[in-house]
Amino acid sequence: MPKRTEALDPPRSANGGSDLKTDTCSGTTPPKVSAMKPRRSGEETWSSGAHRTTPRGAGTSPSRQAIGASLAACAGIETCEAAEGLDAITRPDVELVIWRRSLPSRLQTWLERLDATLLPDMRLLVRPEDLVRALEPLLNDRGLPQGEMRALLVCDVDSLVSAFARIARTDLVDVRLQSVGGDACWKFHRDCVEARLLTTYRGPATEWVRPRHAEAALRAQKRFKGPIEHLRAHDVAIFKGSCAGPGSGIVHRSPAIAGTGRTRLLLCLNKPSAVSPEPWPKGSQRDPPLP
Ligand SMILES: [Fe+2]
Repeated sequence: MPKRTEALDPPRSANGGSDLKTDTCSGTTPPKVSAMKPRRSGEETWSSGAHRTTPRGAGTSPSRQAIGASLAACAGIETCEAAEGLDAITRPDVELVIWRRSLPSRLQTWLERLDATLLPDMRLLVRPEDLVRALEPLLNDRGLPQGEMRALLVCDVDSLVSAFARIARTDLVDVRLQSVGGDACWKFHRDCVEARLLTTYRGPATEWVRPRHAEAALRAQKRFKGPIEHLRAHDVAIFKGSCAGPGSGIVHRSPAIAGTGRTRLLLCLNKPSAVSPEPWPKGSQRDPPLP
C-alpha cells in the first residue's frame, strides 16, 4: 500500500480553530461520546474497517478518467462511478470518496427552477425503511409539488440513506435535507464526526482541500489562495471527520453564496449523535407511536 503523505501532517484540532459552534454547520460541535450509539459486537471503526478494493477508472469517459487520475494523485482520495464504490470510505487509507454522477436533466431543471420557499428544510432521525413515510408528510407541509420529479428526488434520498446506513453500519440515520440561502459553514473546518455523506441537489457544492494543503487553509481561511477543490452538484461524497482517528478529517467549507440570491439544497447524512432529533416516529407529531 502506498505510504500516505498526509500521515505526516501535524496533529490538528477538530475544527481547525474555527469558532463555529452549531451542528448545522456540518457538525463542528463534538458529539458526546457517551451519548453515541455503542458499536455492535464486531463493528469496526471507519479507520479500521475491512478493506475493499474499489475499481478506479474502469469504463469511465476520458474526461472522468482525467478527473479521477488527478484526484488519485492525492493519497486518501477516491472517486467512483457507482454507489457501490462509496464503500471505499471504510478503508483506513481513504479520507474522502466521491461518486461522480449526474441526475436526470429534467430533475436538475426542476430543482433549479423551484421556488426557493418550497425547497425542503428538515431533519430526521430515521430507519432507512421508514425514510419515505417520514419524509413525504414533511414535503407536503413545505408545499413541494407532487409528481414525477418529487418522486425522483425522494427516491434518490431514499437510496442514499440506505447506502449510508449499510456503509456506516447504523440502524438509524440522521438525515438533514436543508435549503441554504447564506454562506453557512464558510470557514474551512473538519467535521467532528467519523464520516458524513454530502450531496448538493441545487446550487454550488462543497469546497475542500487536499490533505497537504489542509493546515494552510485552516490558518489562512478566506486568505487561502488555493488550490481549492470543488464537488460538483449531485456528486455524492463521504468525508471522514476528525473522529475517524488520529490525523483524519478532510478540511472543507460551504461555498459563499450570500448576496447572490441563490439557494442551495443540501443532503447531509450522519450516524446518530447527541444532537440528533428523536427517532422517527417517536419524535413525529404527525404519527405518534402506539401506546
Ligand atoms: Fe462540514
